[in-house]
Amino acid sequence: MLWVMRFSGFFSAAMVLIVLSPSLQSFPPAEAIRSSYVDTNNMRFQADRFSFRKAPPFRNARECGTTKVLGKVDVCDPSLVHVAITLDVDYLRGSVAALHSILQHSSCPDNIFFHFLVSQSHLEHLIASTFPQLKFKVYYFDPNIVINLISTSVRQALEQPLNYARNYLADLLEPCVGRVIYLDSDLVVLDDVAKLWATTLGSRTIGAPQYCHANFTKYFTPGFWSDRRFSSTFAGRKPCYFNTGVMIMDLVRWRRSGYTKQIEGWMEIQKSDRIYDLGSLPPFLLVFAGHVAPIDHRWNQHGLGGDNVRGSCRDLHPGPVSLLHWSGSGKPWLRLDSGKPCPLDTLWAPYDLFTHAQ
Ligand SMILES: *[C@@H]1O[C@H](CO)[C@@H](O)[C@H](O)[C@H]1NC(C)=O
Repeated sequence: MLWVMRFSGFFSAAMVLIVLSPSLQSFPPAEAIRSSYVDTNNMRFQADRFSFRKAPPFRNARECGTTKVLGKVDVCDPSLVHVAITLDVDYLRGSVAALHSILQHSSCPDNIFFHFLVSQSHLEHLIASTFPQLKFKVYYFDPNIVINLISTSVRQALEQPLNYARNYLADLLEPCVGRVIYLDSDLVVLDDVAKLWATTLGSRTIGAPQYCHANFTKYFTPGFWSDRRFSSTFAGRKPCYFNTGVMIMDLVRWRRSGYTKQIEGWMEIQKSDRIYDLGSLPPFLLVFAGHVAPIDHRWNQHGLGGDNVRGSCRDLHPGPVSLLHWSGSGKPWLRLDSGKPCPLDTLWAPYDLFTHAQ
């Protein structure tokens, strides 16, 4: 029972106050970082569960231009492509495969800067040994920032606070970072991420593939729709569902408009009025649906996780594929390990760098 472990692990992490480890102290000051409660012994033990092969080296093609002096990376360098991704124990294997896929299909892999969001220490050491050349920075996301905002219903209490870290990217990342691609940990990129980076957002703050044929009503409760105070937020908009696992975010506009506070405002309302059933997605829909810059659907072939670990394999949506996303409850690494993979899980396997313990 993965969620039980997750839940108890979270509480042990929340209860043991420790002095910040040196790696955590090097994090930049940010409003979202308030206090740190991490059970390092427990996390070190969990990180020991993992062993990854070293990724093959990657290098820039000639047309990428001159690279900076080796070892000196300036996160404010305007030629960088910024990618944010979470690292957590349960999805670490997925995050590593996602990184591997991004680097392998990039013409200028050395121009990519990764921003890792973590609530547990030590996982970054695994990343550094698996990808020795990687340009990255680690940001500690304090689960306590959202724990009081997550509604107390059973389903949501069990949800990972790290799912909400994407709401705080504008606060966490350096002010000089004006745009970031946020990616979930259960996907692989099969195309050059620089093409996604080059997408124009126009006057919009976020870009994502939209699904206007999906029934938008079902993402909110009947109580939400019948209360004008709430449902009028969509007046004058044509809201469409979008998946928050692949987004381009303009952090300059985000900071200026204070969207983090708007999302938190809806989470407060959820606590008292229960306006939706899912966790981290609906507040994003409330703030952005109808105001999203459309991105080609090839960049989020989602739903490949299906409804459970095995037995409900999904097929691709029609059209070209630049990114495969195992959203849903089944994950390719679990199904491959169980010996009962879905057909498309074999497309994830080549990016897996996990080595099973002897
Ligand atoms: C959309 O979902 C709502 C709520 O589940 C349902 O009542 C409604 O009939 C659905 N509409 C369509 C067109 O399927």
